[in-house]
Amino acid sequence: MLVKRDDLTSTRYGGNKVRKLEFLLGQARAEERDVVLTFGAYGSNHALATAVHARALGIEPHVVLSPQAPGPFAARTLRAHAGLGTVIHLAEGWDGTREAARVRRELRERGSDPLVIPMGGTNATGAIGYVNAAFEVSAQMREPGRDLTGTAPGVSYVPGGTLGTAIGLAVGFAAVARIDQQSVARVVAVRVTPGEVANEPFARTLTAETVALLRSLDASFPDLGYDDLAFELRDEFFEPGYGVPTHQTEAAVELAAARGLKLETTYTGKALSAVLADVDSGRLTPESGPVLFWDTYNSAPYPPAGPDEALPAPLREYVAECDRLFGNSGSRMGVAP
Ligand SMILES: Cc1ncc(COP(=O)(O)O)c(C=O)c1O
Repeated sequence: MLVKRDDLTSTRYGGNKVRKLEFLLGQARAEERDVVLTFGAYGSNHALATAVHARALGIEPHVVLSPQAPGPFAARTLRAHAGLGTVIHLAEGWDGTREAARVRRELRERGSDPLVIPMGGTNATGAIGYVNAAFEVSAQMREPGRDLTGTAPGVSYVPGGTLGTAIGLAVGFAAVARIDQQSVARVVAVRVTPGEVANEPFARTLTAETVALLRSLDASFPDLGYDDLAFELRDEFFEPGYGVPTHQTEAAVELAAARGLKLETTYTGKALSAVLADVDSGRLTPESGPVLFWDTYNSAPYPPAGPDEALPAPLREYVAECDRLFGNSGSRMGVAP
């Protein structure tokens, strides 16, 4: 198995979100926005990555956060928001649109029109970051002097949260294949979010929008549809739910740690546990071609933690509950796992 080290995309805060934010925050700057507004679960890496990189650009980050089960990493993420001065708004369920509408109204009254970045940074603009990634890794596998030089990336495993990573990659590999007249590299998205968030109709729409955006920018980009992709959405690893650690995800995180990779249990641990399950079940064989595991989690040191008092009251209780269940695992010191 090969590992694509997307944990190293930025020394400030890396992971898959950086590839999307390159384009999303680029849009914010081009449109001279002074505020961005995004969404996520309490422990959302996307919400934190957006806050870190927006702050670095002098843009005020607002996030609408949705409840999730207590987990070992969520408290640390929230304390990092406290340190960054992220403006946190709370939603009651997964859908934060009503809360976001309220926040936008208030910001407009203050004279700010935020760029609204969808959950996970997933829209056509964000997905372009992963179209690029497919071109990048395909070129890397052609570079001389590598173990697998000359082989195409056979099958990529990524966590499927909001599917921007997976669909961006699948579109990118389909484009590479069309241009180079070779077979399309497969992308397996291991679903980690509820089916309302990650599903095939959404994947189809995102594919169409991403290809349309790229073709509007460059008419020579291949005219691809969903059926041209080699994309598979795997549902069977989702239970017992978003962010809930299991023996399998914990074992995958430990296995990776022994090889020097810092994974977590919500996304990357689940995706790696799917690779291991597919090896065990015989679904992955040498004929599948090289397996590319995308390490989408940040491995840079965490932003320094702020005081719990800076968090809204329900989140103060939530971080205390996480500490009770999992220990504070360095969250107060801002230490990466
Ligand atoms: C570490 C990590 N990997 C993967 C994902 C999922 O990416 P996507 O939302 O593009 O499916 C996320 C989303 O927050 C993440 O934080």
